[in-house]
Amino acid sequence: MRSVILCQLRRLAVPNWQLLTLVPFVILNPYSEDKLNQAKQSTGLFVVKIGGSTYGNHDTTLEDLVTLQQRGQHPVVVHGGGNAISEWLERLSVPVRFVRGLRVTDAGTLQVVVGVLAGMVNKELVAGIEVLGGMAVGLSGVDGGLLQAEVKEPSLGYVGEVVQVDTGIIHTLVEARCIPVIAPLGLHKSKKKGENGYLLNLNADTVAGDIAAAIRAEKLIFLTDVAGIRSNIGEVIKRLSREEAKGLLTSGVASGGMIPKVEAALRALATVPVTRIIDGRVQHALLREMEGAGVGTTIGDR
Ligand SMILES: Nc1ncnc2c1ncn2[C@@H]1O[C@H](COP(=O)(O)OP(=O)(O)OP(=O)(O)O)[C@@H](O)[C@H]1O
Ligand SMILES: [Mg+2]
Repeated sequence: MRSVILCQLRRLAVPNWQLLTLVPFVILNPYSEDKLNQAKQSTGLFVVKIGGSTYGNHDTTLEDLVTLQQRGQHPVVVHGGGNAISEWLERLSVPVRFVRGLRVTDAGTLQVVVGVLAGMVNKELVAGIEVLGGMAVGLSGVDGGLLQAEVKEPSLGYVGEVVQVDTGIIHTLVEARCIPVIAPLGLHKSKKKGENGYLLNLNADTVAGDIAAAIRAEKLIFLTDVAGIRSNIGEVIKRLSREEAKGLLTSGVASGGMIPKVEAALRALATVPVTRIIDGRVQHALLREMEGAGVGTTIGDR
């Protein structure tokens, strides 16, 4: 491998004396071989979860996705849609019920969830990318059998948890140079007798983590409406180890919408080396992040 590097440098017409200065680096640097091996295995894939707060009028995330795609990078997008769903449930006068703070998804609610998530929100995002000159295909976890799910807890109704990810459709779209834009719905393939329907409502953060792990993404990025994870004294934490992240969950410092993000990061850690939680309200937050200049919280070892 080292000789190959030196040959490549020679082909670039690097003068011999400069080559000689590089020899000790290539021979002695203990990381060079590791880094080269890593680069060989790199998938170039990264998962971006777009939160409800980040697809407002002034958002630059879609522009950033197009720029990154044009630079040859491979984003995979998962989106939520909590606010739009609540708005439409109210407009359509669908009764809302909560169990221990969690929204119960009955059959009527599920129809609205599917229509708003996989329809309106998904298509708006895809249209936004296409209009900016990018290439995107919208789908849900049901399409291509991407996300197989089971009922999480019967009292919550049609709320599922992912039991299997079939990554085939994502790879097909990425190879076709399209950005997959994924709505968090699951396919309830093994539904039992007496259960209705084949669709389940999934948590978008959890789905982003499950997909990132399954495709061995290099990075999982949550774009949200805060500057990062705040400590018990309200300061944004720069970096969290696995144990520290678990501690924030048990102490309750990470609560509400932050819980599924931290849990997703922890579950993904086996194959995804780093998760970032960044402020999607900041102009070009995603681009800065991918250029190494992002601000926010890192969960992981890198
Ligand atoms: N320790 C913490 N640090 C920062 N934010 C926290 C913390 N604990 C709880 N939160 C809450 O988590 C919220 C982010 O999650 P939220 O579910 O509201 O947004 P999202 O997931 O980005 O969007 P959507 O749910 O619409 O997809 C923050 O606005 C904040 O209120
Ligand atoms: Mg949320």
